[in-house]
Amino acid sequence: MADDKSIFIGASRKLDDSYQRAEQLLLQYGNRHGLITGATGTGKTVSLQILAEGFSNAGVPVFCADIKGDLSGIAMMGTAQDFLVKRAEQVKLDPYDFQEFPVIFWDLFGEQGHPIRATISEMGPLLLSRLMNLSEAQEGIMNIAFRIADEEGLLLLDLKDLQALLANIAERADEIGSRYGNVTKPSVGAIQRTLLVLEQQGAANFFGEPALHIADIMRTTRDGRGAISVLAADKLMMNPRLYATFLLWLMSELFEELPEVGDPERPKLVFFFDEAHLLFEDAPKVLVDRVEQVVRLIRSKGVGVYFVTQNPLDIPETVLAQLGNRVQHALRAYTPREQKAVRTAADTFRPNPDFDCATAITQLGTGEALVSTLETKGVPSMVQRTLVRPPSSRLGPITPVERRQLIAESPVSGQYDQTVDRESAFEMLQKKAKEAQDAEEQAQQADSGRSRWTIPGFGNDDPAPQSGGRRAPAPRPSNRQTVAEAAIKSVVRSVGSSVGRAIVRGILGSLARGR
Ligand SMILES: Nc1ncnc2c1ncn2[C@@H]1O[C@H](COP(=O)(O)OP(=O)(O)OP(=O)(O)O)[C@@H](O)[C@H]1O
Ligand SMILES: [Mg+2]
Repeated sequence: MADDKSIFIGASRKLDDSYQRAEQLLLQYGNRHGLITGATGTGKTVSLQILAEGFSNAGVPVFCADIKGDLSGIAMMGTAQDFLVKRAEQVKLDPYDFQEFPVIFWDLFGEQGHPIRATISEMGPLLLSRLMNLSEAQEGIMNIAFRIADEEGLLLLDLKDLQALLANIAERADEIGSRYGNVTKPSVGAIQRTLLVLEQQGAANFFGEPALHIADIMRTTRDGRGAISVLAADKLMMNPRLYATFLLWLMSELFEELPEVGDPERPKLVFFFDEAHLLFEDAPKVLVDRVEQVVRLIRSKGVGVYFVTQNPLDIPETVLAQLGNRVQHALRAYTPREQKAVRTAADTFRPNPDFDCATAITQLGTGEALVSTLETKGVPSMVQRTLVRPPSSRLGPITPVERRQLIAESPVSGQYDQTVDRESAFEMLQKKAKEAQDAEEQAQQADSGRSRWTIPGFGNDDPAPQSGGRRAPAPRPSNRQTVAEAAIKSVVRSVGSSVGRAIVRGILGSLARGR
């Protein structure tokens, strides 16, 4: 039933509820994106699970977020429960085999999976501003901060680097303001305070090194199956902004790092974006535009993005229009907004003369969906009322003990578990400040030395400075660059470039890696 060119989704039914035909997702159109929607409890997570299973078996790595922990069961073998076996019979899934899948667990907080990190510079000013909910003016300052970091060779890796940089900018606000405009101490201070809030919310874990290598979410097993990366997102959901920003960052990284492949036989990676409404809620237009752009362009890198959300109205129309493979579970239609959602969902399908789409959407049972996928030449198939197949892996969560064991056995075990804190902006600025302070102290000592008692014959009995500038003058607090400062700058510059960070901002304003 499932061949090597498609994923079996389930069986469509005739009006009298008899079997009609198998519904498939063609792997060749797996990168044409998709959408899974439906009210709560209608079967979205299970649909995600069976699609992820199908991609993995076809050798396609998958990245997905696990909002409630109930997707984690995909790592374990399923069991023959009556209702699952019955469903398998209804959809003519024969044989109904059970299987465990190669899963790598990830967690931004490092608790329920391998820590997943990004550096501040990879995140870039646009996404950071979105993460911190900055005003337009504040975003302007964030852009300037990144520019200054680039110019002065300051590596921005973790939150304390950004904090140190902002503190430094606040100190030099007059000088920087005169160069770039609109930088004042209070406005920088406001950003610094937002950053503190972010830190208190646990984001400090996420920013730093070792940063995630994209290759680690694109692994395949020896037997040719795609690894399924499952991001623990239950705790992350308490900070929806961090969640959305992280997934956006990941998409933009994929976009930056993967080569063009056009239309591959099967996707290189499939990305499930659960609770996708969080991405677009109160998002400024510029961000929505960028997301639309990334989704459009990432297709030719062979990456399929599947949005999962309760309401199709959650997704902006420009994005919705690009989602070729659709699984629409039941929606309620009590309120006007709900009725509108049903109509929108119904209107996006190629109609089937056998039934009225909008009516069907309100009548679908659990684990039943209106399905339309891309067929020959990428044309959407006529919508079908489909019973979704049961999963081969376990339905529901794994236990903490099982999780610990899977994490210990994972192929990236040990690779990300310890934070590395190498020299970056925080240390560099600290060093600079210390040097400035030392120089000042030296100068002060020299000044005060003149009035102090001296011990004859110990070389300091002639405190008056010689002409010819034997002693370096104390550096001015700002503006003038001392020789030492210039030397430090050139050193950090070379450090900056030796790590291979090209100063090129990518599609979401993040720093493209020069690997
Ligand atoms: N394809 C299916 N085969 C068998 N049972 C299913 C199927 N889909 C859903 N179910 C049953 O319905 C239950 C709820 O499904 P699921 O957890 O996927 O809903 P959901 O839409 O993700 O809900 P929520 O919005 O609350 O996350 C499952 O636990 C399972 O018992
Ligand atoms: Mg769910």
